[in-house]
Amino acid sequence: MTKNIWEEFAINAKDKMPLYKQIIHQVEGMVHDGRLKPGTRLPSERKMAKLLNVSRMTITLANEEMKARGMVRSHQGSGTFILRGPRAKEVERDLDLPVEFAYPTGEINQGMDEIMRHGENTHLINLAGVGTAPEVHPGIELSQCFSEHLRKNPILLQLPSPTQGYEPLRLEMISWLKKVKIEVKLNEIMIVSGAMQGLDLISRLFLKPGDYVVMEEPGFLGAADAFKATGAKILRITLDEEGIRLDSLENMLMQFPIKFIYVNPTYQNPTGVTMSLKRRKKLLELCSKYGVLIVEDDPFSLLYFEDKPAPPIKSLGSDNVIYIQSFSKYLYPGIRLAVLVANEGIIHNLSKVKQRVDLHSNNLTQIALHAYISEGNLENHIWKLKSAYLERLHLMKELLNEGPYIHCKLPEGGVFLWCKVPKEIPTDRLLEFAVKNGFTFVPGNWMSGVGMFENYIRLAYTHPSLEWLKKGIKLLHHTILEYKEYQF
Ligand SMILES: Cc1ncc(COP(=O)(O)O)c(C=O)c1O
Repeated sequence: MTKNIWEEFAINAKDKMPLYKQIIHQVEGMVHDGRLKPGTRLPSERKMAKLLNVSRMTITLANEEMKARGMVRSHQGSGTFILRGPRAKEVERDLDLPVEFAYPTGEINQGMDEIMRHGENTHLINLAGVGTAPEVHPGIELSQCFSEHLRKNPILLQLPSPTQGYEPLRLEMISWLKKVKIEVKLNEIMIVSGAMQGLDLISRLFLKPGDYVVMEEPGFLGAADAFKATGAKILRITLDEEGIRLDSLENMLMQFPIKFIYVNPTYQNPTGVTMSLKRRKKLLELCSKYGVLIVEDDPFSLLYFEDKPAPPIKSLGSDNVIYIQSFSKYLYPGIRLAVLVANEGIIHNLSKVKQRVDLHSNNLTQIALHAYISEGNLENHIWKLKSAYLERLHLMKELLNEGPYIHCKLPEGGVFLWCKVPKEIPTDRLLEFAVKNGFTFVPGNWMSGVGMFENYIRLAYTHPSLEWLKKGIKLLHHTILEYKEYQF
Protein backbone atom coordinates (compact mmCIF):
# COMPACT_ATOMS: atom_id res chain seq x y z
CA MET A 1 0.00 0.00 0.00
CA THR A 2 2.83 2.38 0.87
CA LYS A 3 4.41 1.63 -2.53
CA ASN A 4 2.44 4.25 -4.41
CA ILE A 5 1.54 6.48 -1.55
CA TRP A 6 3.87 9.24 -2.74
CA GLU A 7 1.70 9.63 -5.77
CA GLU A 8 -1.15 10.65 -3.48
CA PHE A 9 0.70 13.83 -2.49
CA ALA A 10 -1.14 16.92 -3.70
CA ILE A 11 1.32 19.78 -4.08
CA ASN A 12 -0.12 23.08 -5.18
CA ALA A 13 2.35 25.62 -6.57
CA LYS A 14 -0.28 28.39 -6.25
CA ASP A 15 -0.80 27.81 -2.54
CA LYS A 16 0.64 30.45 -0.17
CA MET A 17 2.30 27.73 1.90
CA PRO A 18 5.88 27.06 0.69
CA LEU A 19 6.20 23.81 -1.23
CA TYR A 20 8.56 22.17 1.24
CA LYS A 21 6.06 22.89 4.05
CA GLN A 22 3.25 21.38 2.01
CA ILE A 23 5.30 18.20 1.76
CA ILE A 24 5.92 18.10 5.51
CA HIS A 25 2.27 18.76 6.16
CA GLN A 26 1.24 15.85 3.98
CA VAL A 27 3.75 13.48 5.55
CA GLU A 28 2.40 14.49 8.98
CA GLY A 29 -1.16 13.85 7.91
CA MET A 30 -0.35 10.45 6.46
CA VAL A 31 1.55 9.35 9.55
CA HIS A 32 -1.35 10.41 11.74
CA ASP A 33 -3.98 8.60 9.77
CA GLY A 34 -1.81 5.48 9.59
CA ARG A 35 -1.14 5.49 5.86
CA LEU A 36 2.60 6.02 6.46
CA LYS A 37 4.04 3.66 9.06
CA PRO A 38 7.17 4.30 11.13
CA GLY A 39 10.09 2.63 9.37
CA THR A 40 8.80 3.43 5.85
CA ARG A 41 11.63 4.47 3.58
CA LEU A 42 11.24 7.77 1.72
CA PRO A 43 12.11 7.74 -2.02
CA SER A 44 15.51 9.28 -2.83
CA GLU A 45 15.52 13.06 -3.11
CA ARG A 46 15.91 12.85 -6.88
CA LYS A 47 13.05 10.42 -7.27
CA MET A 48 10.79 12.34 -4.90
CA ALA A 49 11.48 15.63 -6.72
CA LYS A 50 10.49 13.97 -9.99
CA LEU A 51 7.39 12.37 -8.52
CA LEU A 52 6.13 15.62 -7.02
CA ASN A 53 7.33 17.78 -9.86
CA VAL A 54 9.32 20.09 -7.59
CA SER A 55 12.99 21.02 -7.38
CA ARG A 56 15.43 18.79 -5.56
CA MET A 57 16.17 21.72 -3.21
CA THR A 58 12.51 21.66 -2.09
CA ILE A 59 12.85 18.01 -1.10
CA THR A 60 16.16 18.67 0.68
CA LEU A 61 14.54 21.49 2.67
CA ALA A 62 11.56 19.30 3.60
CA ASN A 63 13.81 16.41 4.65
CA GLU A 64 16.09 18.64 6.72
CA GLU A 65 13.17 20.14 8.59
CA MET A 66 11.56 16.74 9.17
CA LYS A 67 14.90 15.50 10.50
CA ALA A 68 15.20 18.48 12.82
CA ARG A 69 11.69 17.80 14.11
CA GLY A 70 12.44 14.14 14.67
CA MET A 71 9.87 12.99 12.10
CA VAL A 72 12.41 11.13 9.96
CA ARG A 73 15.93 9.85 10.38
CA SER A 74 18.66 9.26 7.82
CA HIS A 75 21.13 6.41 7.64
CA GLN A 76 24.04 7.10 5.39
CA GLY A 77 23.83 4.84 2.38
CA SER A 78 20.44 3.36 3.22
CA GLY A 79 18.11 6.33 2.99
CA THR A 80 15.63 8.37 5.01
CA PHE A 81 12.96 6.68 7.11
CA ILE A 82 9.79 7.75 8.87
CA LEU A 83 10.52 7.84 12.58
CA ARG A 84 7.05 8.89 13.68
CA GLY A 85 4.68 11.79 13.30
CA PRO A 86 4.54 14.84 15.53
CA ARG A 87 2.50 14.46 18.70
CA ALA A 88 -0.98 14.18 17.34
CA LYS A 89 -3.04 17.22 18.25
CA GLU A 90 -6.05 15.76 19.96
CA VAL A 91 -9.16 16.46 17.99
CA GLU A 92 -12.63 16.36 19.40
CA ARG A 93 -13.98 12.90 18.73
CA ASP A 94 -16.81 13.13 16.27
CA LEU A 95 -20.24 12.76 17.73
CA ASP A 96 -22.64 10.66 15.78
CA LEU A 97 -25.26 13.31 16.49
CA PRO A 98 -26.29 16.52 14.78
CA VAL A 99 -24.76 18.67 17.57
CA GLU A 100 -21.34 20.19 18.18
CA PHE A 101 -19.21 20.41 21.29
CA ALA A 102 -19.00 23.85 22.87
CA TYR A 103 -16.05 22.89 25.04
CA PRO A 104 -12.73 23.09 23.18
CA THR A 105 -11.35 19.69 24.20
CA GLY A 106 -8.94 19.73 21.27
CA GLU A 107 -7.20 22.75 22.81
CA ILE A 108 -6.55 20.92 26.03
CA ASN A 109 -3.08 19.59 26.61
CA GLN A 110 -2.87 15.85 26.07
CA GLY A 111 0.00 15.70 28.50
CA MET A 112 -2.24 15.39 31.53
CA ASP A 113 -4.08 12.53 29.89
CA GLU A 114 -0.85 10.66 29.35
CA ILE A 115 0.42 11.30 32.87
CA MET A 116 -2.83 9.96 34.33
CA ARG A 117 -2.88 6.96 32.01
CA HIS A 118 0.70 5.95 32.77
CA GLY A 119 -0.10 6.07 36.48
CA GLU A 120 -2.16 2.92 36.07
CA ASN A 121 0.61 0.91 34.40
CA THR A 122 2.41 -0.72 37.31
CA HIS A 123 5.08 -2.14 34.99
CA LEU A 124 6.36 1.33 34.14
CA ILE A 125 8.84 3.07 36.44
CA ASN A 126 6.84 6.21 36.92
CA LEU A 127 8.97 9.34 37.07
CA ALA A 128 6.16 11.39 35.54
CA GLY A 129 3.20 11.70 37.88
CA VAL A 130 3.62 12.52 41.53
CA GLY A 131 2.71 9.74 43.90
CA THR A 132 3.62 9.51 47.56
CA ALA A 133 6.23 7.06 48.92
CA PRO A 134 4.56 3.64 49.34
CA GLU A 135 6.63 2.70 52.40
CA VAL A 136 5.13 5.59 54.39
CA HIS A 137 1.61 5.16 53.13
CA PRO A 138 -0.84 6.53 55.72
CA GLY A 139 -2.88 3.34 55.26
CA ILE A 140 -3.33 1.99 58.78
CA GLU A 141 -4.28 5.14 60.70
CA LEU A 142 -6.22 6.62 57.82
CA SER A 143 -8.16 3.46 57.09
CA GLN A 144 -9.14 3.35 60.77
CA CYS A 145 -10.51 6.88 60.42
CA PHE A 146 -12.48 5.82 57.35
CA SER A 147 -13.89 2.58 58.74
CA GLU A 148 -14.66 4.01 62.17
CA HIS A 149 -16.62 6.91 60.74
CA LEU A 150 -18.36 4.81 58.15
CA ARG A 151 -19.71 2.79 61.08
CA LYS A 152 -20.08 5.61 63.59
CA ASN A 153 -21.54 8.37 61.50
CA PRO A 154 -24.29 6.83 59.37
CA ILE A 155 -26.63 9.78 59.87
CA LEU A 156 -23.97 12.26 58.85
CA LEU A 157 -23.14 10.21 55.78
CA GLN A 158 -26.75 9.77 54.79
CA LEU A 159 -27.37 13.50 54.59
CA PRO A 160 -25.94 15.99 52.13
CA SER A 161 -23.06 18.12 53.44
CA PRO A 162 -22.64 21.88 53.16
CA THR A 163 -21.06 22.86 49.86
CA GLN A 164 -18.36 24.86 51.65
CA GLY A 165 -17.21 21.69 53.38
CA TYR A 166 -17.60 19.64 56.56
CA GLU A 167 -17.53 22.24 59.30
CA PRO A 168 -15.25 20.41 61.78
CA LEU A 169 -12.69 20.00 58.99
CA ARG A 170 -12.96 23.70 58.09
CA LEU A 171 -12.49 24.56 61.78
CA GLU A 172 -9.48 22.26 61.92
CA MET A 173 -8.06 24.11 58.92
CA ILE A 174 -7.91 27.31 60.97
CA SER A 175 -5.15 25.81 63.12
CA TRP A 176 -3.63 23.68 60.33
CA LEU A 177 -3.02 26.78 58.19
CA LYS A 178 -1.21 28.49 61.05
CA LYS A 179 1.69 26.13 60.21
CA VAL A 180 2.18 28.18 57.07
CA LYS A 181 1.46 31.43 58.93
CA ILE A 182 -1.98 31.93 57.39
CA GLU A 183 -4.51 33.45 59.81
CA VAL A 184 -8.00 32.79 58.57
CA LYS A 185 -11.65 32.86 59.68
CA LEU A 186 -14.14 30.04 59.16
CA ASN A 187 -16.06 31.80 56.42
CA GLU A 188 -12.90 32.34 54.44
CA ILE A 189 -12.36 28.59 54.07
CA MET A 190 -13.86 26.08 51.72
CA ILE A 191 -13.05 22.45 51.00
CA VAL A 192 -12.75 21.50 47.34
CA SER A 193 -12.29 18.19 45.55
CA GLY A 194 -8.58 18.67 44.89
CA ALA A 195 -6.64 21.78 43.91
CA MET A 196 -7.64 21.06 40.32
CA GLN A 197 -11.27 21.65 41.24
CA GLY A 198 -10.28 24.85 43.02
CA LEU A 199 -8.57 26.09 39.85
CA ASP A 200 -11.54 25.10 37.74
CA LEU A 201 -14.04 26.87 40.03
CA ILE A 202 -11.91 30.02 40.06
CA SER A 203 -11.72 29.90 36.27
CA ARG A 204 -15.48 29.48 35.96
CA LEU A 205 -16.15 32.34 38.37
CA PHE A 206 -13.69 34.89 36.99
CA LEU A 207 -12.86 34.10 33.38
CA LYS A 208 -14.71 34.53 30.14
CA PRO A 209 -13.54 34.25 26.53
CA GLY A 210 -10.94 36.89 25.73
CA ASP A 211 -9.93 37.58 29.36
CA TYR A 212 -6.26 37.52 30.29
CA VAL A 213 -4.47 35.45 32.91
CA VAL A 214 -0.77 35.43 33.71
CA MET A 215 1.13 32.33 34.73
CA GLU A 216 4.69 31.06 35.00
CA GLU A 217 6.59 29.76 31.96
CA PRO A 218 7.05 26.83 32.34
CA GLY A 219 4.17 26.14 34.71
CA PHE A 220 1.61 23.60 35.90
CA LEU A 221 -0.16 22.24 32.81
CA GLY A 222 -3.37 21.42 34.69
CA ALA A 223 -3.80 25.09 35.60
CA ALA A 224 -3.20 26.17 32.01
CA ASP A 225 -5.85 23.69 30.84
CA ALA A 226 -8.41 25.00 33.33
CA PHE A 227 -7.84 28.62 32.27
CA LYS A 228 -7.79 27.81 28.56
CA ALA A 229 -11.08 25.94 28.75
CA THR A 230 -12.88 29.20 29.54
CA GLY A 231 -11.58 30.85 26.37
CA ALA A 232 -9.22 33.09 28.35
CA LYS A 233 -5.80 33.99 26.98
CA ILE A 234 -2.76 33.01 28.99
CA LEU A 235 0.24 35.32 29.13
CA ARG A 236 3.42 33.59 30.22
CA ILE A 237 6.33 34.98 32.22
CA THR A 238 9.62 33.18 32.69
CA LEU A 239 11.24 32.60 36.07
CA ASP A 240 14.67 33.35 37.44
CA GLU A 241 16.11 31.88 40.63
CA GLU A 242 13.77 34.06 42.73
CA GLY A 243 10.58 33.09 40.91
CA ILE A 244 8.38 34.80 38.32
CA ARG A 245 10.07 37.89 36.82
CA LEU A 246 8.36 41.04 37.90
CA ASP A 247 9.88 43.45 35.37
CA SER A 248 7.94 41.65 32.62
CA LEU A 249 4.86 41.44 34.82
CA GLU A 250 4.61 45.17 35.36
CA ASN A 251 4.76 45.71 31.59
CA MET A 252 1.92 43.27 31.12
CA LEU A 253 -0.15 44.80 33.90
CA MET A 254 0.11 48.14 32.13
CA GLN A 255 -0.88 46.71 28.74
CA PHE A 256 -3.54 44.08 29.42
CA PRO A 257 -6.70 43.94 31.55
CA ILE A 258 -5.46 40.94 33.52
CA LYS A 259 -7.96 39.07 35.71
CA PHE A 260 -5.50 37.16 37.88
CA ILE A 261 -1.96 35.95 38.19
CA TYR A 262 -1.53 32.27 38.92
CA VAL A 263 1.65 31.29 40.75
CA ASN A 264 3.03 28.18 42.41
CA PRO A 265 5.67 30.00 44.44
CA THR A 266 7.16 27.19 46.52
CA TYR A 267 9.12 24.34 44.86
CA GLN A 268 7.39 25.27 41.63
CA ASN A 269 6.02 22.65 39.29
CA PRO A 270 8.09 21.88 37.19
CA THR A 271 11.28 23.85 37.95
CA GLY A 272 11.44 23.42 41.75
CA VAL A 273 12.18 27.18 42.06
CA THR A 274 11.04 28.92 45.25
CA MET A 275 10.05 32.57 45.12
CA SER A 276 12.05 34.75 47.52
CA LEU A 277 10.25 36.65 50.28
CA LYS A 278 11.26 39.93 48.69
CA ARG A 279 9.68 38.87 45.39
CA ARG A 280 6.49 37.69 47.13
CA LYS A 281 6.10 41.09 48.78
CA LYS A 282 6.77 42.92 45.56
CA LEU A 283 4.32 40.72 43.64
CA LEU A 284 1.64 41.47 46.19
CA GLU A 285 2.40 45.17 46.00
CA LEU A 286 2.19 45.20 42.21
CA CYS A 287 -1.07 43.27 42.14
CA SER A 288 -2.62 45.55 44.76
CA LYS A 289 -1.51 48.58 42.76
CA TYR A 290 -3.18 47.28 39.58
CA GLY A 291 -6.17 45.69 41.34
CA VAL A 292 -5.38 42.18 40.14
CA LEU A 293 -5.99 38.95 42.03
CA ILE A 294 -3.30 36.41 42.81
CA VAL A 295 -4.14 32.71 42.74
CA GLU A 296 -1.54 30.96 44.90
CA ASP A 297 -1.25 27.20 44.43
CA ASP A 298 0.72 25.71 47.31
CA PRO A 299 0.73 21.91 47.33
CA PHE A 300 4.36 21.33 48.36
CA SER A 301 5.55 23.90 50.89
CA LEU A 302 5.44 21.56 53.92
CA LEU A 303 7.84 19.23 52.08
CA TYR A 304 11.02 21.23 52.84
CA PHE A 305 14.26 19.37 53.48
CA GLU A 306 16.21 21.81 55.67
CA ASP A 307 15.12 25.43 55.92
CA LYS A 308 11.46 26.32 55.79
CA PRO A 309 10.59 28.18 52.58
CA ALA A 310 9.30 31.77 52.63
CA PRO A 311 5.69 31.87 53.90
CA PRO A 312 2.83 31.89 51.40
CA ILE A 313 1.90 35.17 49.73
CA LYS A 314 -1.52 34.81 51.38
CA SER A 315 0.12 35.03 54.81
CA LEU A 316 1.53 38.45 53.92
CA GLY A 317 -1.96 39.75 54.43
CA SER A 318 -4.13 40.54 51.47
CA ASP A 319 -7.69 40.03 50.35
CA ASN A 320 -6.29 39.95 46.82
CA VAL A 321 -4.99 36.42 47.23
CA ILE A 322 -6.86 33.16 46.72
CA TYR A 323 -4.84 30.38 48.31
CA ILE A 324 -5.15 26.64 47.61
CA GLN A 325 -3.42 23.86 49.53
CA SER A 326 -3.92 20.34 48.23
CA PHE A 327 -3.66 17.19 50.36
CA SER A 328 -2.64 15.10 47.34
CA LYS A 329 1.09 15.44 47.93
CA TYR A 330 0.83 15.03 51.71
CA LEU A 331 -1.42 11.94 51.67
CA TYR A 332 -1.98 10.53 48.20
CA PRO A 333 -3.38 11.92 44.93
CA GLY A 334 -6.64 9.95 45.16
CA ILE A 335 -7.69 11.71 48.40
CA ARG A 336 -9.14 14.47 46.14
CA LEU A 337 -9.32 17.11 48.84
CA ALA A 338 -7.81 20.57 49.11
CA VAL A 339 -8.46 23.64 51.22
CA LEU A 340 -9.18 26.94 49.48
CA VAL A 341 -8.84 30.25 51.32
CA ALA A 342 -10.16 33.58 50.05
CA ASN A 343 -12.17 36.53 51.27
CA GLU A 344 -15.71 35.73 52.35
CA GLY A 345 -17.33 37.18 49.22
CA ILE A 346 -15.21 35.06 46.91
CA ILE A 347 -15.88 31.92 48.98
CA HIS A 348 -19.61 32.61 48.90
CA ASN A 349 -19.58 32.86 45.11
CA LEU A 350 -17.22 29.95 44.59
CA SER A 351 -19.57 27.78 46.67
CA LYS A 352 -22.38 28.61 44.27
CA VAL A 353 -20.21 27.52 41.35
CA LYS A 354 -19.21 24.35 43.20
CA GLN A 355 -22.85 23.51 43.85
CA ARG A 356 -23.30 23.22 40.11
CA VAL A 357 -20.33 20.90 39.84
CA ASP A 358 -20.51 18.34 42.63
CA LEU A 359 -22.79 19.74 45.40
CA HIS A 360 -20.08 19.00 47.97
CA SER A 361 -16.81 17.10 48.23
CA ASN A 362 -16.93 13.50 49.40
CA ASN A 363 -18.13 13.69 53.00
CA LEU A 364 -16.67 10.42 54.30
CA THR A 365 -13.24 11.50 53.09
CA GLN A 366 -13.68 14.91 54.74
CA ILE A 367 -14.75 13.30 58.02
CA ALA A 368 -11.83 10.85 57.91
CA LEU A 369 -9.35 13.60 57.06
CA HIS A 370 -10.64 15.68 59.93
CA ALA A 371 -10.11 12.79 62.37
CA TYR A 372 -6.67 12.04 60.91
CA ILE A 373 -5.46 15.64 61.21
CA SER A 374 -6.97 16.39 64.60
CA GLU A 375 -5.23 13.34 66.09
CA GLY A 376 -1.90 14.78 64.89
CA ASN A 377 -1.34 12.05 62.32
CA LEU A 378 -0.86 14.21 59.24
CA GLU A 379 1.94 16.21 60.79
CA ASN A 380 3.82 13.01 61.77
CA HIS A 381 3.17 11.54 58.38
CA ILE A 382 4.66 14.55 56.58
CA TRP A 383 7.88 14.22 58.64
CA LYS A 384 8.16 10.59 57.54
CA LEU A 385 7.53 11.55 53.92
CA LYS A 386 10.24 14.18 54.02
CA SER A 387 12.86 11.77 55.24
CA ALA A 388 11.83 9.22 52.60
CA TYR A 389 12.09 11.91 49.90
CA LEU A 390 15.44 13.20 51.09
CA GLU A 391 16.88 9.69 50.85
CA ARG A 392 15.52 9.41 47.31
CA LEU A 393 16.89 12.81 46.38
CA HIS A 394 20.41 11.89 47.56
CA LEU A 395 20.22 8.72 45.52
CA MET A 396 18.96 10.59 42.46
CA LYS A 397 21.85 13.04 42.73
CA GLU A 398 24.37 10.19 42.72
CA LEU A 399 22.67 8.32 39.90
CA LEU A 400 22.15 11.32 37.66
CA ASN A 401 25.84 12.20 37.94
CA GLU A 402 26.71 8.82 36.44
CA GLY A 403 25.72 9.85 32.90
CA PRO A 404 27.20 12.66 30.82
CA TYR A 405 24.08 14.03 29.18
CA ILE A 406 21.73 15.10 31.90
CA HIS A 407 22.00 18.07 34.25
CA CYS A 408 19.47 18.60 37.01
CA LYS A 409 18.75 21.30 39.52
CA LEU A 410 18.39 19.87 43.00
CA PRO A 411 15.39 21.34 44.81
CA GLU A 412 15.30 22.38 48.48
CA GLY A 413 11.98 20.63 48.88
CA GLY A 414 8.96 19.45 46.96
CA VAL A 415 8.68 16.60 44.54
CA PHE A 416 10.35 17.45 41.22
CA LEU A 417 13.74 17.54 39.56
CA TRP A 418 14.03 19.77 36.52
CA CYS A 419 16.70 18.49 34.17
CA LYS A 420 18.31 19.55 30.93
CA VAL A 421 19.45 17.18 28.19
CA PRO A 422 21.44 18.07 25.03
CA LYS A 423 19.54 20.45 22.82
CA GLU A 424 19.34 18.05 19.88
CA ILE A 425 17.13 15.76 21.96
CA PRO A 426 13.45 16.72 21.85
CA THR A 427 12.24 15.12 25.03
CA ASP A 428 8.72 14.35 23.84
CA ARG A 429 10.34 12.05 21.29
CA LEU A 430 12.66 10.69 23.96
CA LEU A 431 9.57 9.79 25.98
CA GLU A 432 8.51 7.26 23.35
CA PHE A 433 11.83 5.51 23.69
CA ALA A 434 11.47 5.73 27.47
CA VAL A 435 8.05 4.09 27.50
CA LYS A 436 9.36 1.32 25.26
CA ASN A 437 12.24 0.87 27.73
CA GLY A 438 9.91 0.77 30.74
CA PHE A 439 9.84 4.21 32.36
CA THR A 440 8.17 7.62 32.01
CA PHE A 441 8.85 11.28 32.71
CA VAL A 442 7.25 14.57 31.66
CA PRO A 443 8.80 16.33 28.65
CA GLY A 444 9.58 20.00 29.34
CA ASN A 445 7.57 21.41 26.46
CA TRP A 446 4.34 19.98 27.91
CA MET A 447 4.72 22.55 30.67
CA SER A 448 5.32 25.42 28.29
CA GLY A 449 2.72 27.70 26.75
CA VAL A 450 4.96 28.56 23.81
CA GLY A 451 6.66 25.27 22.90
CA MET A 452 9.84 26.02 24.82
CA PHE A 453 11.90 23.72 27.06
CA GLU A 454 11.99 20.96 24.43
CA ASN A 455 15.25 19.66 25.84
CA TYR A 456 14.11 19.59 29.47
CA ILE A 457 12.47 16.85 31.46
CA ARG A 458 10.60 16.82 34.75
CA LEU A 459 11.34 13.89 37.01
CA ALA A 460 9.09 13.11 39.97
CA TYR A 461 11.10 10.97 42.37
CA THR A 462 8.66 10.53 45.24
CA HIS A 463 6.85 7.34 44.33
CA PRO A 464 9.26 4.68 42.97
CA SER A 465 11.18 2.64 45.53
CA LEU A 466 14.96 3.16 45.80
CA GLU A 467 15.43 0.01 43.72
CA TRP A 468 13.14 1.28 40.97
CA LEU A 469 14.76 4.70 41.01
CA LYS A 470 18.15 3.04 40.44
CA LYS A 471 16.72 1.07 37.56
CA GLY A 472 14.81 4.07 36.19
CA ILE A 473 17.80 6.43 36.11
CA LYS A 474 20.00 3.74 34.54
CA LEU A 475 17.34 3.35 31.88
CA LEU A 476 17.23 7.12 31.43
CA HIS A 477 20.99 7.29 30.73
CA HIS A 478 20.70 4.32 28.40
CA THR A 479 17.70 5.80 26.59
CA ILE A 480 19.45 9.11 25.95
CA LEU A 481 22.40 7.22 24.42
CA GLU A 482 20.05 5.06 22.40
CA TYR A 483 18.22 8.14 21.08
CA LYS A 484 21.47 9.87 20.15
CA GLU A 485 22.61 6.81 18.21
CA TYR A 486 19.26 6.38 16.54
CA GLN A 487 19.18 9.96 15.36
CA PHE A 488 22.63 10.31 13.89
C1 LIG B 1 1.14 22.83 41.26
C2 LIG B 1 0.03 21.84 41.32
N1 LIG B 1 -1.21 22.25 41.60
C3 LIG B 1 -2.23 21.40 41.68
C4 LIG B 1 -2.05 20.05 41.44
C5 LIG B 1 -3.24 19.13 41.50
O1 LIG B 1 -3.60 18.91 42.82
P1 LIG B 1 -4.88 18.01 43.20
O2 LIG B 1 -4.44 16.59 43.14
O3 LIG B 1 -5.21 18.44 44.60
O4 LIG B 1 -5.95 18.33 42.25
C6 LIG B 1 -0.79 19.59 41.13
C7 LIG B 1 -0.58 18.17 40.84
O5 LIG B 1 0.50 17.72 40.50
C8 LIG B 1 0.29 20.50 41.07
O6 LIG B 1 1.52 20.10 40.78
